[in-house]
Formats: sequence, C-alpha cells, structure tokens
Amino acid sequence: MKICSTIEQVRDALRDPRLKQVSIGLVPTMGALHAGHLSLVRAAKSRCGLVVVSIFVNPTQFAPTEDLAKYPRSLERDCEMLRGEGTDVVFTPSADEMYGAGASTWVTVEGLSERLDGASRPGHFRGVTTVVSKLFHIVGPNAAFFGQKDAAQLAIVRRMTRDLNLPIEIVGCPIVREVDGLAMSSRNVYLSGDERRQARVLSRCLERMRREFEHGERESAALIEAGKQTLAEEPAVRLDYLSIVDPDSLEAVERISGRCLAAGAAYVGTTRLIDNLVLSA
Ligand code: PAJ
Repeated sequence: MKICSTIEQVRDALRDPRLKQVSIGLVPTMGALHAGHLSLVRAAKSRCGLVVVSIFVNPTQFAPTEDLAKYPRSLERDCEMLRGEGTDVVFTPSADEMYGAGASTWVTVEGLSERLDGASRPGHFRGVTTVVSKLFHIVGPNAAFFGQKDAAQLAIVRRMTRDLNLPIEIVGCPIVREVDGLAMSSRNVYLSGDERRQARVLSRCLERMRREFEHGERESAALIEAGKQTLAEEPAVRLDYLSIVDPDSLEAVERISGRCLAAGAAYVGTTRLIDNLVLSA
C-alpha cells in the first residue's frame, strides 16, 4: 500500500495503472475510520482494479464554530485498517497541499446545498463539493464511493458530477449501523456513556416513521409527527430537522407517492448526529 502526502506522489502512483487501463476507484474520507468507511473500500475493491482512499479533514466544510480542531485523527490506525482491506493507495494531503495560498475557486451546487444539513450548516456543502471535485481532478477515478449515511452529500455529489459532465460513476453504499441501530460515525467517539444510550433514539425515530409508512400512512406531516413522538422519549436529544424529501432534489415532499428519503439531524449533548432511511411507495 502506497501512502502519498502530495498531489505529485499520488499522480505518479496512478500514471502506470492508468496507462494500463486499470479501473480506479476513489473513496474520499476524513479518516477516523470505522466499519462504515471500510464497507465503501470493499465496494470499491469489488468493482475496481485499484483503490485509492483519501484521508483529509477538509477545513472548508467546517464553520468556525464547528469541530475542525477536535475532529478525531488516527492516521496510523486508519492505515492499518486500510492495509487490511487491500487498499492500493492512501492519499493524506496537508491543508496547504490541498489549498495553495490564495485559493479562491469554489464549486457550488446551488439550491440542493441549502437544503437539509445545508440549512443548518451554511457553506458546508460548498466545502464538500469543492474538495470532492479537487479530489476527482487529482485522482481521476472511474468510480467514486459514498455512503448513503450522508444522503444529502450523496445527492449533491451526484448532481455536481452530472452538471460538470465528469466521467465518474458515483456509487452509493448502504448505511452501516451499530447493533443497536445507531449509524456509525466518526463523531460517535464524542458521546459520553449516557449520550451514547440517548443517541439510539434517532434511528428509533426513523424506524417508527418506516413502520407508520408500512401501515399505509403517506402524509409526510403525520409521519414526521410520529417520528417526533419517539424522539421526545429522550428529552435531552435536541432535534435539528426531521424531513421527508425527494432523494434527488432534496425538496420536501408533502405526500409520498414514489421513493422518498426520511432524514433527520439531532444534537446529543454538543454532538450533531445525522441519519436517514429510504421510504419506497
Ligand atoms: P466522512 O464523514 O469521513 O465519510 C466518508 C464516507 O464514508 C462518506 O461517503 C460517508 O457517507 C461514508 N460513511 C460514513 N459513515 C458511514 C456509515 N455508517 N455507513 C456507510 N457509509 C458511511 O463524508 C465525508 O467524510 C466528507 O464530507 C468527504 C466526502 C470526505 C469530503 O470531505
């Protein structure tokens, strides 16, 4: 496994495989890897001849009030895990390597970037689409792998790839959960014992919505109300949003007729967690 910290090194490492037409899969991450990330690496391994994993805690997607400084970093452990999965190349650039002095170019997907998490995290998705498009240009993958866990991010990256005519297949992979239903996240390490227990309510809330949906409820308002009732079982958990949206446009849906996304975000203590599931009529 090659570990590259500069753009030149990663381009050098990929020159030969590209000439030999080996298909390249990219898994962008911010490190602090868990089984959710590794499921993307496995999906990439199964479809591509060579797998590149990027580990970069991207400053431009964090607001000044957010957790950039304390975001968990565990590069050595991450590399061990990636070696175990047969990763070919790890790209671990510094912030200076990724954003040269005076960098002033942004990639923005308008509209979608202001919905769901974008509404409570202004500028977040602009940072994501900018760094993901830079990674796409640096690595030149045939396919890139993203988790359904960040459903809004996945929809926005798909839209960006389509709008910019990038010849890259965007592959969405299912959410990997802890046994009690909590979606795996690098941020789960912030939770105290009590908070970890309370955090389960977010997936329970979405499951409750799924059950009501399976019993025939199609009105979003009624489903959201049911979800909020479940959420109220943990009064310490503070809801940010709970929405039912079109999975491609991220626009709110009033009555479900096709495939929809039930998505929520909540604060457990100071930790913001997100989760979602697909409802298919
Ligand atoms: P990060 O939060 O590290 O996530 C990297 C990838 O892992 C994302 O595609 C995310 O959806 C996926 N992932 C995280 N938890 C998952 C889970 N429980 N099950 C399945 N997939 C999961 O998302 C980012 O980093 C950044 O925004 C990034 C795309 C790297 C741009 O900086």
